[in-house]
Amino acid sequence: QTIELCEANNQRPLLTMRVNCPKIDPVNFEKKISSLNQNVEKSQYNDCFFRTPDLPELTEFSYFQEGHFSIQDESAGLPCKLIDPKAGEVVLDLCAAPGGKSAYLSELNAGKAIIISIDQNFPRLNLIRKNIKRLGLKNIHLIQADGRNFAAKKADKVLVDAPCSGLGVLAKRVDLRWKRTPAQINELTKIQFELLQNAGKLVKTGGVVVYSTCTIEPDENERIVEKFLKKNKNFNIDPATRFISETFVTEEGFARTFPHKHGMDGSFAARLIKKSEILKKNIKVNP
Ligand SMILES: C[S@@+](CC[C@H](N)C(=O)[O-])C[C@H]1O[C@@H](n2cnc3c(N)ncnc32)[C@H](O)[C@@H]1O
Repeated sequence: QTIELCEANNQRPLLTMRVNCPKIDPVNFEKKISSLNQNVEKSQYNDCFFRTPDLPELTEFSYFQEGHFSIQDESAGLPCKLIDPKAGEVVLDLCAAPGGKSAYLSELNAGKAIIISIDQNFPRLNLIRKNIKRLGLKNIHLIQADGRNFAAKKADKVLVDAPCSGLGVLAKRVDLRWKRTPAQINELTKIQFELLQNAGKLVKTGGVVVYSTCTIEPDENERIVEKFLKKNKNFNIDPATRFISETFVTEEGFARTFPHKHGMDGSFAARLIKKSEILKKNIKVNP
């Protein structure tokens, strides 16, 4: 398995396009793009995703400029499917830039949910602004804040697409195999846990928190969720099988992808439901 994973990480990755489905029907998109002699292959898991070996001069490509599609790995679509945004719901995207998942959250319900995209990095927030303008999405609101202590009225759903080591995207970020250190991963796990803890406070009772990363490192994935559930007994895992193909779902109900198994980036996502507000501790009454 490890050898297969390393070999997959050494392959040139395919480019994946996410069609802006409210704007253009994927069948029409496929026809249009194939008419340009562009070799595209439809995803077997999601009608809005297509793979292609290459796109010449991508940013000059008129369908891109006109907001017909975005470049996004299929694995990045899974946490958005787990959020399952519905019309009228308020969804906080706590680590939102450059806005790939915020945009897909908006596209998933044709702009009928309210997406609040938060990121602490101002220049990166500008990338979201540029992306949503290109895609013509109107229901995304931007806030610069630290997701670890951001406070707001409780939301229906919160996505924590946490900063991570990126060990699931080594085919695209080849530099990471030389740059990443165990000390950096330790630092990241602290931030990841703090972000998830705050997400737990920001969501309503009955609401959903989705924690996701683009790493395959268990310390940044399962261990973070386990620690969170230990500290927050008022949350449960909601198995991912209701929202995405079983191919991606682990025994615990998490979403997990691997380059050598699924032909996409390595990623992780967990859907958690808040059953109640903080459970009251047992109060001992003196006899
Ligand atoms: C994995 S990227 C998010 C990718 C994004 N969700 C998307 O799909 O395009 C992580 C983001 O978290 C942001 N970030 C890191 N620490 C943060 C914090 N404490 N509060 C808010 N954002 C943070 C980074 O600036 C970065 O943009």
